[in-house]
Amino acid sequence: MIALLGKLFSHPLGQFAAKGKTFLLPAEKSTLAPGIDALFYFCYWISIFFFLLILGLLVGFLVKYRRRPGHEAQETIHHSTPLELVWSVIPLILMIAIFVMGFRGFLDLHTPPDNCYEIQANGQKWSWTFTYPNGYSDSELHAPVDVPVKLTLSSQDVIHSLYVPDFRIKRDVVPGRYTIAWFQATESGESPLYCAEYCGTGHSEMNTKVVIHEPGEFEKWLEKASDFIKTMPPEEAGKLVYQKRGCAQCHSIDGSPGIAPTFKGLFGKQEHLQSGTRTVDENYVRESILQPTAEVVVGFDPVMPTFQGRIKDPEIEVLISYLKTLK
Ligand code: CUA
Repeated sequence: MIALLGKLFSHPLGQFAAKGKTFLLPAEKSTLAPGIDALFYFCYWISIFFFLLILGLLVGFLVKYRRRPGHEAQETIHHSTPLELVWSVIPLILMIAIFVMGFRGFLDLHTPPDNCYEIQANGQKWSWTFTYPNGYSDSELHAPVDVPVKLTLSSQDVIHSLYVPDFRIKRDVVPGRYTIAWFQATESGESPLYCAEYCGTGHSEMNTKVVIHEPGEFEKWLEKASDFIKTMPPEEAGKLVYQKRGCAQCHSIDGSPGIAPTFKGLFGKQEHLQSGTRTVDENYVRESILQPTAEVVVGFDPVMPTFQGRIKDPEIEVLISYLKTLK
């Protein structure tokens, strides 16, 4: 019955093209999604059924037993064992069904298969970094289709939460410990990835995307992406670092104000720091990336996390080349 309900409601009049997409839920793009949706709609339809039943009886009895001449209130029924058994046992059976489905889903979500492809995911104020087995880091989560992927989650600062609605996964990312999430994508394409834990000023900007590649394409993407500093002109590689390393979430390049100073016209200018004025040169940029809170620009809070140990020198060098182009 559950499967039938799930199916019925998953394809209302076939108006939604994406597989499993309904009015209430996004498309189902992972192997975990159908089970979670079935449980959701099971609870949903039980709620609708009992809402209508109870409301219907309430209104019916209001009309039937309303007080009027010849119908005065009187106590006739004190107790009905069969009725009480019915309204206790039926909800109990439903609760057991919900528990069993929920617990199995919970175990599924927390038990990655043995043959997972492993990716490290790091949350920080306010961006995501995904590190692949070859050491390459990217702000987007790329993965192959039809392969189970295990994410080992860690936080640089506060609690974040990695949330991919299309995959039906959401997992808190907690400082000082590792948490785990896994998924197996069922189709190639892009899906949004959000932070689902309020983590400060830039929380609503802490979004990126998941890119699922066709079989064989993922390896090609990873190889090409890993070599971008060697193969691209420095300014273009620097622009990629700016996007991939999450600089873009706080530092604009068009002069518009954000959580942090804009990069437009930054290189070479006199920056007003809390400790005095300083020219923005190569050393200033490098120090600001590795020790962001050592010197803070007047008018801004010391909220940037350090990239010490997480960013490589060639990346800083191309980033500086890119900054020089932002006149
Ligand atoms: Cu990170 Cu909200």
